[in-house]
Amino acid sequence: MRHFLGIDGMAREEVAALLSAARGCREEVTRGVRRRPLEGRTVACLFFEDSTRTRSSFEIAAKHLGAEVLGWNVRNSSVSKGESFADTLRNIEAMGVCALVVRHPSSGAALLASRKVACAVVNAGDGTHEHPTQALLDALTLQDSLGELAGKRVAIVGDVLHSRVARSNIHCLRLLGARVVLSGPPTLVPQGFESLGCEVQWDLSRALAGAHAVIALRIQSERLGDGLLPSLGDYRRHWGLSIARVDRLEKGAVVLHPGPVNRGVELSPEVVDGPASVILDQVANGVWVRMAVLEACA
Ligand code: CP
Repeated sequence: MRHFLGIDGMAREEVAALLSAARGCREEVTRGVRRRPLEGRTVACLFFEDSTRTRSSFEIAAKHLGAEVLGWNVRNSSVSKGESFADTLRNIEAMGVCALVVRHPSSGAALLASRKVACAVVNAGDGTHEHPTQALLDALTLQDSLGELAGKRVAIVGDVLHSRVARSNIHCLRLLGARVVLSGPPTLVPQGFESLGCEVQWDLSRALAGAHAVIALRIQSERLGDGLLPSLGDYRRHWGLSIARVDRLEKGAVVLHPGPVNRGVELSPEVVDGPASVILDQVANGVWVRMAVLEACA
């Protein structure tokens, strides 16, 4: 792979190969095997938007592979002096990095980056478009819990409209044969998502019935100002996952969330910390899938 920009357009075999490579990385690191395919090379993590999980796990993944990591912070960069996105990338590349891991608030930023530099570009989340490594780590976590995903029903609940996580997950889960149902307020799950091969179900009880997994999406409080949600309390009452709602899922079902969780909004604290939650497994799996992606691209 030259770049890793999105799940949309990938073949099932490519996704399966990355998941298999991620399992291999997990097994090696857990056994203490030190393979260093990126020894002597540098990976730059250019985050034009905040991150806890994605940035940290890319950095840890790069170090497991033997790479040096360039710490870079948009807040004290020359972006504040008006340097353009493309010039920023080209200047960092000129210092001899093998890969740019890019997060940006604008959809399409990773694709644009890939056209401006010769080194590998990895999309760490671009606007509302895609967050492809999140989809891979979610798929790995789901496979760890449920085995083969073909035929499994996965509910994605919340702000689908603005969610790059939802878009990448829809493509990835469909490639792996899962049945995807989207649920949330009609303002945040508008008609049209059926065209991606999903069921849209505005009745949460129906969406959860028979589901083997639920991916709860973060509610972005900044959306309240858009008039798309009356209040966070209203969201919690109608769409928040409580223990009672989780009990309606299939036996053995799991609850995922990309983070950061708004405790008491998308998920009750009892669900976040409860037996069905695999949220911290997702975080751990982020390291392995990012190792697989960096090794494939860099
Ligand atoms: N899941 C995710 O992208 O989290 P961060 O924003 O903390 O990276």
